[in-house]
Amino acid sequence: CPGAGLGPEAEADPALLRASSPELARRLRGLALVRGGFVSEEEAVELLREVEPGLGRGRYQDDHWDRAITGYRETERGLRGGAGRALLLRVTPAFPSSRPPRPSAHVLDLLPGGRVGPHVDSVKFCGCTIAGVSLLSPSVLRLRSLRDPQDWLELLLEPGSLYVLRGAARYEFTHEILPDEESFFGELRVPRGRRVALIFRNDPSGENLPKPPGTPSFPLPGL
Ligand code: OGA
Ligand code: MN
Repeated sequence: CPGAGLGPEAEADPALLRASSPELARRLRGLALVRGGFVSEEEAVELLREVEPGLGRGRYQDDHWDRAITGYRETERGLRGGAGRALLLRVTPAFPSSRPPRPSAHVLDLLPGGRVGPHVDSVKFCGCTIAGVSLLSPSVLRLRSLRDPQDWLELLLEPGSLYVLRGAARYEFTHEILPDEESFFGELRVPRGRRVALIFRNDPSGENLPKPPGTPSFPLPGL
């Protein structure tokens, strides 16, 4: 069952992961995962058929308020087709059972010349876990420590692969999809074509939401 073993005990495929040091690889073990061959070519064709109509025709954009991103189109889409519903079920084990993925996926279509610049997903809109399925083109996802920028991790995202970011990998590292001219996995050149990603997220728990000023915190002192 390809959906099994996606919890925090899971291991990334070592051939698809590079780290700035063995210590960092150990620290993010189970928190940054990549799995090749998570969806078959037939499923990929079905998934693209389901999500492409939602992307509209043409009209790729540059820039986004939240993350430096160029050459992209995107939509948030409920997965109602058979392949989409099956995929949602198979990524669900990557999420805590108390915080399952939202039923709609973020569909991000990147041109060969597009990139997703380094960013941390907003804690207002996104919970503890992010799971992304890459279709069509390989790419490199790089994580970089906010505190120690010399600490990085790179994930090789082949078409049909799944990656999962959670915990420290989600909150304490930026992530980015490298632009074509920088798209290398070590010595390996990873030429970028058009890439469509289906990204699953859960809701924030509410605990780490910034509170409006003046909000009392509980327990109130003296009670
Ligand atoms: C994002 C993002 C990564 C990807 O849209 O926030 O990080 O896999 N995308 O495309
Ligand atoms: Mn992101």
